[in-house]
Amino acid sequence: MIIEPANKLAHINEYYFSAKLKEIAQLRAQGKSIINLGIGNPDMPPSEATINALVETAKQPNTHGYQSYIGTPELRQGLASFYQATYNVTFNSNSEVLPLLGSKEGISFISNAFLNPGDKVLIPNPGYPTYTSATYLAGAEPIFYDLDEQNNWLPKLDSIDEKILNEAKLMWVNYPNMPTGSEGNIAYFEKLIAFAKKYKILVCNDNPYSLVLNNERPMSIFHADGAKEVCIELNSLSKSHNLAGARIGMIVGDKAYIDTILKVKSNVDSGMYLPVQAGAIAALTNNQEWHNTRNEVYKKRRTIAYQILDTLNCSYTKEQVGMFLWAKIEDKYNNVEDLTERILHEADVFITPGFIFGTNGARYIRISLCSTENDLQEALKRIEKLFNI
Ligand SMILES: Cc1ncc(COP(=O)(O)O)c(C=O)c1O
Repeated sequence: MIIEPANKLAHINEYYFSAKLKEIAQLRAQGKSIINLGIGNPDMPPSEATINALVETAKQPNTHGYQSYIGTPELRQGLASFYQATYNVTFNSNSEVLPLLGSKEGISFISNAFLNPGDKVLIPNPGYPTYTSATYLAGAEPIFYDLDEQNNWLPKLDSIDEKILNEAKLMWVNYPNMPTGSEGNIAYFEKLIAFAKKYKILVCNDNPYSLVLNNERPMSIFHADGAKEVCIELNSLSKSHNLAGARIGMIVGDKAYIDTILKVKSNVDSGMYLPVQAGAIAALTNNQEWHNTRNEVYKKRRTIAYQILDTLNCSYTKEQVGMFLWAKIEDKYNNVEDLTERILHEADVFITPGFIFGTNGARYIRISLCSTENDLQEALKRIEKLFNI
């Protein structure tokens, strides 16, 4: 006998990458040397100071116990100082900053902290799939809003049905945007804040990419006037500090929102391993040169990724922020998987099909820059050969 899973899981499938990574592992076991240009998993190390702090703290005998649910005061101060130095935004480290074990868990905590069963949640299409699954897991209902290429992947807020807006409680936004690479702008954030106040919607900006290949000053939703009343922001050291495996994220915002989220978090996890907190504190002081060096590596890789996209006759903008390239495929393909599956099985290169981010991604592919120049060159060579170029 097998006990039935919860009904809410009917909407949730295994995460696309989880299934695809299994397939890639199988192909590799059959002797194929698959180059994975799919997932955004930074392959470069964190700063030396980060590793040293982590290792030295781990060597101490008294650093291995449970930790505070809200992190050490030093970590919270480090996060608040990072926000000040990076975005010129001030938060009280005692009450307006909450460390997380990666921002992904924050998406789930926020959903559980603010949503009642049946509440409507506004989710970008295309967008990070976790917003949708976290909504279902909280028993709420996702309502997808269109991001529009003509509008630089910003939504047309006035095209969302007024009835839905009156029922919506939470809205996910993600600028700089993944998967489209759109940077967003303050004028849009200001419009969004007026909109959120009018319809009494909590807006969460998910902001893990603002330091990666950013064009201008790193953006935060808190650059817009009035954000604190209706906005919170997730951030993460996964991409910006090459610490994806260590699971270090944060949520910043008004104390009332932080306190509510802590009610969920403190009942789910048991704090961040102290050596990881020490590593995070060191990482948060990485200087601009460290960030520039990381971006220079991504820039060189991006040049080769552009060549891959050109070989595939894709159309795309070179103004994208973050560690991915998002590009439209040629009209001649019936669907994007015709292309990505052919490239996987005939050129041994995995590229993400855009449909996994929603229906508006159905004619797009996403290439990750988290592979070495050598691998990207080899992927280019294989794809050129496949298409006889
Ligand atoms: C848009 C977006 N948000 C959140 C995350 C989660 O990041 P982490 O949990 O590593 O902080 C990712 C990771 O790929 C992402 O692309």
